[in-house]
Amino acid sequence: MSAGRILVVEDEDKLRRVIQLELESAGFEVDGAPTAEQGLPLATVANVVITDLRLPGMSGLELIQQLQARGIQAGVIVITAHGSVDTAVEAMKLGAADFLQKPFSLDHLSTVVQKVMAVQSLRAENQRMRDELDQRYQFGNIIGRSAAMREIFHTVERVAPTRATVLIAGESGVGKDMIARAIHQNSPRRMKPYVKINCTALPENLMESELFGYEKGAFTGAAATKPGKFEQADGGTVFLDEIGDVPGNIQVKLLRILQERQFERLGSNVTRDVDVRVIAATNVDLRAALEQGRFREDLYYRLNVVPVSVPPLRERKEDIPFLAMHFVQKLSRDLGSLAKEISPAAIDRLLTHSWPGNVRELENTIERSLVLAPDEILQPADIRIEAPRNSHPVVSAQAPLLPEGETLEHWEQMMIREALRRANGNKSQAARMLGLTRNALRYRLSQMGMETGPAEEPEATGANH
Ligand SMILES: Nc1ncnc2c1ncn2[C@@H]1O[C@H](COP(=O)(O)OP(=O)(O)OP(=O)(O)O)[C@@H](O)[C@H]1O
Ligand SMILES: [Mg+2]
Repeated sequence: MSAGRILVVEDEDKLRRVIQLELESAGFEVDGAPTAEQGLPLATVANVVITDLRLPGMSGLELIQQLQARGIQAGVIVITAHGSVDTAVEAMKLGAADFLQKPFSLDHLSTVVQKVMAVQSLRAENQRMRDELDQRYQFGNIIGRSAAMREIFHTVERVAPTRATVLIAGESGVGKDMIARAIHQNSPRRMKPYVKINCTALPENLMESELFGYEKGAFTGAAATKPGKFEQADGGTVFLDEIGDVPGNIQVKLLRILQERQFERLGSNVTRDVDVRVIAATNVDLRAALEQGRFREDLYYRLNVVPVSVPPLRERKEDIPFLAMHFVQKLSRDLGSLAKEISPAAIDRLLTHSWPGNVRELENTIERSLVLAPDEILQPADIRIEAPRNSHPVVSAQAPLLPEGETLEHWEQMMIREALRRANGNKSQAARMLGLTRNALRYRLSQMGMETGPAEEPEATGANH
């Protein structure tokens, strides 16, 4: 098999032959043409086109434009006269991959050609993967090749046309939001509102008025009547994010909405009907909350009509290459970054990480890596995985385990704080994230001077923290 196919467009016969011979001896298949007009038909089969800029008839720059107009993807190297940097820059702006300034050594020629050829073959390989992705492993903008994700696509397809309540469970950053939106977008309700409610962000008393609305004068400060989120979503979909954090008294009202599609605004005794589809999401195991009495069993069963469980990224590593390719393409375009492709070795590097922050962490890592990469292709060294906050640091054998000046104790405390932050102050939840018992966490907190209550105090409801 040849190392690739190259077209050389050069009107100087001698130079063209020298280039041709040199590249053929390096294992490439080479076509030569003395003019752009003669070269153009040969360009369709070339991986790389080397062209002089000043040619009789069509110029090298025009040739580049012609290639682009025809969708020919070959990498272009331009040959410029000594001292004509301006035209080289112009050619690069038009999309040329590199340039050779006359006179150039054959060594330099080989180096430049090898480099452009490598980018080309990677681009072709990545394109092949993207085509595969488009056809089979994508649902809207959700990427997934793993059996688990494809099963989820299938479920979304089946439930979207119905009004069935869906409960989406999965760690932070696995794509719960995206899935909820996809269900709405594929439902007959797509033209009606999609209202997202973050149950963690709202204090208990505000949550009730937000969800169900209030009448003027219902409480101090209620200066005017205001419809709630459920009313706003009439005919559409309500997405209840972090449902595990909903306080008990509101759980009762949600149950009624799910059972009877009825509610009252605060300060009103007029019962209102509402037609909503409810999708809920949780990043904690709701069954544990059930057992601890923090979540109503009847509400749980009403929500869990169609369960969708999204596995963490570390349990579906086969999705990583496809997600990475997708993010590289999308983000490099958005950012206008120099790096536009990712090497297989860099993808291997991504596969070794455990992604505690799941797809969101992968997306952020790719974004950071693209911005900082010095070349067209992301290499393993360009992959900038952030110091992990809730997993074991990924380090090589030679590197010190902890960053300079850090102590194990400090890392432990950081992880504990992060877990508490993610669990919104709920210690049982934080303890589970850390793989500790509640008492073990309390002990550590007391050592950090962050614990006050007695060790056996019963757990309060989730939203009271
Ligand atoms: N399968 C996927 N394909 C493409 N992008 C994804 C996929 N899964 C997640 N993402 C992206 O990762 C980010 C996090 O996803 P999302 O917000 O849906 O996660 P989440 O499960 O709702 O997280 P949290 O629990 O923190 O709210 C988003 O930017 C989303 O676009
Ligand atoms: Mg979310």
